[in-house]
Amino acid sequence: KKKLIIDVDTGVDDAQSIMVALAAPDVEILGITCCHGNTSLENVLKNTLRVLKVCNRLDIPVYKGCPKPLLAGKQNAGDFHGKDGLGDVPDPDAPGLDLLQEKRAVQAMLKIAKENAGEVTLVATAPLTNLAVAVQLDPSFPKKLKGLYIMGGNTESRGNTTPCGEFNFVADPEAACIVLERFTCPTYIASWEFSCRRSLPWSFVDEWLSKDTEKAAFMKKISSLSMTKARSAEYQKEITAGKGFNPCDVFAMAAALDDSLITDSDEVAVTVELAGTHARGMMVLDYMELLKKSHKVVIMKNVDSEKLKQMLINALK
Ligand code: BDR
Repeated sequence: KKKLIIDVDTGVDDAQSIMVALAAPDVEILGITCCHGNTSLENVLKNTLRVLKVCNRLDIPVYKGCPKPLLAGKQNAGDFHGKDGLGDVPDPDAPGLDLLQEKRAVQAMLKIAKENAGEVTLVATAPLTNLAVAVQLDPSFPKKLKGLYIMGGNTESRGNTTPCGEFNFVADPEAACIVLERFTCPTYIASWEFSCRRSLPWSFVDEWLSKDTEKAAFMKKISSLSMTKARSAEYQKEITAGKGFNPCDVFAMAAALDDSLITDSDEVAVTVELAGTHARGMMVLDYMELLKKSHKVVIMKNVDSEKLKQMLINALK
């Protein structure tokens, strides 16, 4: 079985990504660690439990992580995901926060990695604050991971939060930098531009959401706000133009779940700009090897979209 830790800021696409993981065969989710990001940490915790409830998997341990970035000012993506992070369609019967584990996210990550050294894959679809704190506390943490899959960063300096910065990296640039500098395990990055270019057709989405299941009804409800935005003329002007639905976080998750998903990639050393007038939080790719860094990450360039679609379909069954 593939063992996973999932670090989230649940968010609509985090919800999709968690549901894809829950539906995958031969996967054991050892813990879901929550971080500030798309919405407040408290909302992230509530949203994560809501997703697990719909999937009947409240047995999976959920941990409370960092409520704010290391140094940066707090950001959220409420304009896109909804103020509550999940489309502003509250569930009156949502599970209570008493279901959370007592142990904190960072301690849980370290413990799980220690007990499953070499076997656990970490999928990070939030600002990287929890991971950065974890490696500061235990520098051997990355070595215990089988792999790290990140949704974040940009490759063509086309940002979604600043002109050249992607949300998860801009929301905590210092954390992103620490993670890219210190995590020497095999690391795979689904960047913002990549995810835009691999967007799925809206015709697929319409069919995907039309299924008569509780999970499909839930997904339709929580994604209505963000999908209306994503389909708007204003949004279509970006590089997503006309291409369709971008399930960002799902790309990182799907790659972690299926080793054959990535069909094209680059291996390159990366870091993050921490200063700069416009470029703070921007991922820097050292194709010319000018930084003389030995560790390279895998930058995803293409995936098997049919496999990805099938995973999304399975998630709502
Ligand atoms: C990333 O930022 C968040 O809004 C999404 O959940 C995704 O992780 C895309 O830039």
